[in-house]
Amino acid sequence: MKLLLSEKEIQGKVSALARKISRDFSDREVLLVGVLKGAFIFMADLARKMTVPVKMDFVRLASYGSGTQSSGKVRFTKDLETPLKGKDVVVVEDIIDTGITLKYLCRCLKARQPRSLKVVTLLDKPKRRKVNFAADYIGCKIDDHFVVGYGLDCAEEYRNLRGVYILK
Ligand code: PRP
Repeated sequence: MKLLLSEKEIQGKVSALARKISRDFSDREVLLVGVLKGAFIFMADLARKMTVPVKMDFVRLASYGSGTQSSGKVRFTKDLETPLKGKDVVVVEDIIDTGITLKYLCRCLKARQPRSLKVVTLLDKPKRRKVNFAADYIGCKIDDHFVVGYGLDCAEEYRNLRGVYILK
């Protein structure tokens, strides 16, 4: 494994994202929506660095089809427990790859009429995009490497690593 982002680098990026989001929402309450499982560690750190009041909820999504080839169809395997109407919502994701998951999720969440809907991702792989999707807040753009750690897995392993590593 090769280190891509150290714990210190990640924490610096998470602090900067928390500052920017807190500034943009100043006195408002933000509902953080974490996309399980990968985002849980990033969300825990981000939430504790934010300076506006936050509430938290989670969704879990699965794409139809098997293996690494996504069919492009997504479904909820765990939905939110919180109504979104009138809320300021920030979706928290660990990584954006093809963009298929977030494009689907944002379309579904917008239909629930939040006051605002933004997306923060720690990592972004713009070269892998299959659909047009851009996050509002991005920690770091990376090349097309298979990365693990800080929530990201390979067959459920390595999520607990403090850094992000390229799996060779
Ligand atoms: C990853 C990641 C995103 C999605 C991004 O989750 O956390 O949710 O893939 O891919 P896309 O942009 O191509 O749609 P994964 O399906 O690996 O599940 P996990 O978070 O439970 O590991």
